Amino acid sequence: MVMEVFDYDLIVLGSGLGGLTSAIHASLASKGKLKIAIVTKLHAMRSHSVSAEGGISGVLYPESNKDTKELHAYDTVKGSDYLADQDAVEQLVEMAPGEIRFYDHIGVAWNRDDSGHIQQRPFGGMSIPRTAFAADKTGFFMMRALYDEVTGFENIDVFHEHFATRLFLDGGRFSGIFAIDLATRNSRLFRGKACVIATGGFSRTYGFTTTAHSSTGDGIALAYRAGLPLKDMEFVQFHPTALVPSGILITEAARGEGGYLRNNKNERFMEKYAKSKMELAPRDIVSRAIVTEIREGRGFVHEESGLRYVHLDLTHLDSKLLDERLPMIREIAIKMLNIDPHKEPLPIRPAAHFTMGGIHTNINGQVMASAEGGIAGGLWAVGECGCVSVHGSNRLGSNSLSQCSVWGRIAGTSIPDYVSAVPEMTGRKTLDEMAEQEESRINDILERKGTVNPYELQSRLQSTMDELVYVYRRTDSLQKALATVKELQRKYSDIYVSDKGRVFNTNLRDALQVENLLDLAEVVIEGALRRKESRGAHAMEEYPERDDANWLKHTIAFKEDDGVKIEYIPVKITRWKPEKRVY
Ligand code: FUM
Repeated sequence: MVMEVFDYDLIVLGSGLGGLTSAIHASLASKGKLKIAIVTKLHAMRSHSVSAEGGISGVLYPESNKDTKELHAYDTVKGSDYLADQDAVEQLVEMAPGEIRFYDHIGVAWNRDDSGHIQQRPFGGMSIPRTAFAADKTGFFMMRALYDEVTGFENIDVFHEHFATRLFLDGGRFSGIFAIDLATRNSRLFRGKACVIATGGFSRTYGFTTTAHSSTGDGIALAYRAGLPLKDMEFVQFHPTALVPSGILITEAARGEGGYLRNNKNERFMEKYAKSKMELAPRDIVSRAIVTEIREGRGFVHEESGLRYVHLDLTHLDSKLLDERLPMIREIAIKMLNIDPHKEPLPIRPAAHFTMGGIHTNINGQVMASAEGGIAGGLWAVGECGCVSVHGSNRLGSNSLSQCSVWGRIAGTSIPDYVSAVPEMTGRKTLDEMAEQEESRINDILERKGTVNPYELQSRLQSTMDELVYVYRRTDSLQKALATVKELQRKYSDIYVSDKGRVFNTNLRDALQVENLLDLAEVVIEGALRRKESRGAHAMEEYPERDDANWLKHTIAFKEDDGVKIEYIPVKITRWKPEKRVY
């Protein structure tokens, strides 16, 4: 089969909020001149951003609710347990309101009050209601509006269902991407001057997760294997309220609208853990509270799965409010569990939800080539896969949709200038050869007569992460998890792909995804093992306190032949000195 080669100015890898906004803004900034390809392993409208439920943060009406950007920034920095880079946080809060208005202009059906103002609901760790929403389907409405926009640009081509397996650099500069067209299994080489990686997070390293099966961190793994650094990978966010036993997200908005968490004594236990914020404490605190209640015997047990849980109680909420603002939650509970939240509480427990680390970028979303040195020319990473870092060790809910939009715009807007300034690539022959090598590697995997089932590897990885790298961590558990991941990596070289066909060979795609998950899990655990403190979502039982003297720094991880190399860089502090974090 001859490899098809495509030439573009900009290749956007991934089609969620970060990817689509990057493409749109690059197109607008170039006045339609840039030739742009969006390459995505799903149909764009199945990108995981469509699952975002509760809303997007931003200060919209400071004159009426006394909210300020400074307060939004402070909440975010405090929420991050002081690991966020404060210059990036200031950038986020400055631009977030404009992003919400941008979505308004392109047709997102925000919930509004009687005066026509966009409504904003309370979210965890936010001092003031500042989360704009479209019922509990915010991500879906934002994606629909963006995708409608994208289809109107003649200079943007969308390659749906193309799975990228390699990122090529030439002399430290981006040169292309190798992808498999899933419909035909044809190989495709996308050559270009610039690339935005926007492939989302890797919560599927866990089995109990709120995320789609597609959240396998592909772009992060490609960057890592291309020699690029990853940042703060040990910080995995656990969302406190995932439905048991499926892990489906029950939005934080359910607590924002007044829902209670209760243990098996019917107590609102958050009073013991965060008296002033109660159920609306930041996610790391609420997740630890739930796990503590369960561990101390105040939870319930789900008979079929054995999963332990507590209750999310919405029965006291006004039924009109529930139907207007949380209709999907009600539908999900009825369909999945035959429980009507008007009448009965929901069984929930924390699930892997969001990747707070990711590809190491500077404040412009440009991918770094080293811990503190220069950038990798022509490469940006935005959305969940890029770590700029605004979330630090604990993201506040609803800051992610603003982050995707803000850095999608920043990256997209700056790319046309970059593309016109850099000369054409010279190493085309080398690139074509590297793509052929990648094609042979894929064919080898396909033809290999191995003995190991990749789905079994994935399932062992996920149960290991669920059990040993969860809300609370211990050195011995992390060591055990690392040993298992290394064993699974060795076994990976002996996998077989049972489907040898060409049409939608999801077996092959899934096998390749497992390699990504294994590499990323290794980095998570290595970072976690070394960080001898508790900060945000990284709670070490032996080191229960935050230790700013030794650990107020970002973890930077590189791939080496025999494992992971770790370095550290300082956190950028502009205005807010670290303080004890009390809610
Ligand atoms: O709970 C939620 O609706 C999730 C929001 C987020 O992760 O930002």
